[in-house]
Amino acid sequence: MRKNIVAGNWKMNLDLTEAQQLMTQLLSYSNNNKSNCEIYIAPPSIYTMMAKDLLDGSSIGVFSQDVSEFESGAYTGEISGKMLQSISANGSLVAHSERRQYHGETDSHANRKVKMLLDLGLTPIYCNGETLEQRKAGQHFEVVKNQTEVALFTLSAEEIKKVVIAYEPVWAIGTGETASPEQAQEIHAHIRSLIAAKYGQDVADEISILYGGSVKPDNAKEIFSKPDIDGGLIGGAALKIGDFSKIIEGF
Ligand code: G3H
Repeated sequence: MRKNIVAGNWKMNLDLTEAQQLMTQLLSYSNNNKSNCEIYIAPPSIYTMMAKDLLDGSSIGVFSQDVSEFESGAYTGEISGKMLQSISANGSLVAHSERRQYHGETDSHANRKVKMLLDLGLTPIYCNGETLEQRKAGQHFEVVKNQTEVALFTLSAEEIKKVVIAYEPVWAIGTGETASPEQAQEIHAHIRSLIAAKYGQDVADEISILYGGSVKPDNAKEIFSKPDIDGGLIGGAALKIGDFSKIIEGF
C-alpha cells in the first residue's frame, strides 16, 4: 500500500547554525515519532551532505531541491543525480513551481530528470499545479493532466510506481491561502484517475500524492484525512520543529 509522507522543503532559508539546529531537533523528534508517515527534508543543497551525516541512522529521508537533467559536465551551478546517489541522498524534488517560475523549468525537463533519478535508484518528488489565472479560467484539471502526461507518461508501470507526486496549486504556495481539502482532494483524485487510465488502478493505488501550499498545523489533519491525499510538501511551516512536528502528527 502507498506511503504517507510529510516532506519539508526548506527552500532558500536558514544559515548553517540554524540548519544544524533544525536537523538536530528533527533527529530527536523522529526517534520518538509514532506517527504513521515517513518524514523527508529537502534542505538547500549546500547542507545536503551534512543532513546525511547528522541524520545518519534515522528514518528521515534527505532530498535535493533540484537536480540536473544532465549526467555530468560543464553545467555550472548544477548538481547531478550521481552526486546525490554518491552521498546516499534519497532523491530530489523535480519541477517545483519556483523552478518553473524563476528558472524556466518545463515538464519536458521534468521528464528527463525523473527518468534519470529513477535510473539511479533515487526517488523523484515530481511537483505540478496550476496558476491562479488557470484556476480562475477553470483550466486546472486540464493543466494538471497535461503536466502529468508530459512529465511522467513515458515511464513504465514499474517506474511510475516509484515516483512521488506533489500537487501544489501555485496560488496557495507561501500565500497563506490553502486549497480547501475538497479542492485538493478533487485534483488528487483526478491525477490518480489519469494514472489508473494509463497504467491500471493497481499502479495508481501505489503512488503517494502529496498536497503542498500553505499547509499548517491547524489544517494538516483535515487535508490528510482525504482519501487521495497521502501527505504534504511543506514550505514555511517546515522551518520550525514545533510546526513541522504538529503537521506530521496530522497523521
Ligand atoms: O514546497 C513547498 C511548497 O511550495 C509549499 O510552500 O508551505 O510555504 O506554502 P508553503
